[in-house]
Order: sequence, then structure tokens, then C-alpha cells
Amino acid sequence: MQLTVNSLPDFQSETYKDAYSRINAIVIEGEQEAYDNYIQLAAMLPQQKDELIKLSKMENRHMKGFQACGKNLAVTPDMEFAKDFFGRLHSNFQAAAAADKIVTCLLIQSLIIECFAIAAYNIYIPVADDFARKITEGVVKDEYMHLNFGEEWLKANFDESKAELEEANRQNLPIVWKMLNEVERMLRFSPWKRKPLWKIL
Ligand SMILES: [Fe+2]
Ligand SMILES: [Fe+2]
Repeated sequence: MQLTVNSLPDFQSETYKDAYSRINAIVIEGEQEAYDNYIQLAAMLPQQKDELIKLSKMENRHMKGFQACGKNLAVTPDMEFAKDFFGRLHSNFQAAAAADKIVTCLLIQSLIIECFAIAAYNIYIPVADDFARKITEGVVKDEYMHLNFGEEWLKANFDESKAELEEANRQNLPIVWKMLNEVERMLRFSPWKRKPLWKIL
């Protein structure tokens, strides 16, 4: 979707840097979660271990790219804020992994977190500084490439996954909905003067 952006923010202003410290932290933490989750998934799905380890390495590269974006603007990401932001999805994934609930883990990482990331990156790209835009465009290409890992697995195992999938959806969709609304609020009251998120999605 093509977005019209009237004016870009002043990337050096203190207001921008303050807002960016939270946005940057969210994308770093999201990639860190993805990295950790794919490593745990590799242990749960030994047959697909190599592919999952490859994905974890890709997510780790994404995280480093976003850390470079913060450094480039001399912004310190507010990691405490971001850890709290992902807290509930993080605990639900950990609880599911401890109970060997592979369907719930795949739903949280491969569908919810991946789609959240793609939505957030696409919204951010038109208002990013040059350096961050190039990095984020590269990351989005990678995310589209591997998005269907969980989709394919769940499709192939649908009958036996259905009940757990419904329960996991009930638990986790309201959480990610809240996260999206929070990002929307952050963008609306930030130096990015733009349409509310719900008008774009
Ligand atoms: Fe990623
Ligand atoms: Fe990803």
C-alpha cells in the first residue's frame, strides 16, 4: 500500500529521539523474541531443526540492524519499556514451550509476532530516516520470505491442532490487539504526524 507522507520529522530533534527510543526498542525486542523463540522451536521440532536455526540467525541479524539504526541517530533504546511491551506474549510462549505445546508456540511466533512485525515495519518505512529505511526494507523482504513456515506446519497438522489453535487464539489475539493499539497511540502522539494506524491496516 502506498502511503502519502506530507513531511518527515526532524530526526535530530529531542522530541523525535525520545519517541524513537521506544519505537526502536520495540523492533529490537521483537527480533530478540523471534531469535529466542526459533531456537526453542528448533528443540521442539527436531526434524526441522536446521531450517529453524537458520531462521533464528536471520532474526538475530535483523536485531543487529535495528540496533545500528538507534546508534546512527545516537538514540538509546528503552529496552525496559519494550520488554514490558512484549511481556505477556513472552510469558505465554514460555508457558506453552514448557508444556510442549507446539501449536501454541507456532501461533505466537510464526503468525502473531511475524505479522505484528510486518505491519509495524510497513507503517514505519515511509517515515524512517534514510539509514533506517534501507535496513527496514531489507528486513521486511526477509520476513515475507519465511512468514509461511508456521502456516505450512499448521495446515499440514490442522485436524489435530484445531482445538489448541482455538484456545491459543482466544488467549493471544486480544494481547496483540492491545499492542497494536498502543503502537497506534505512540505514533499519533509522536513527531510522526500521520494517519492513525487503524486507518492504514
Ligand atoms: Fe525478523
Ligand atoms: Fe521473522
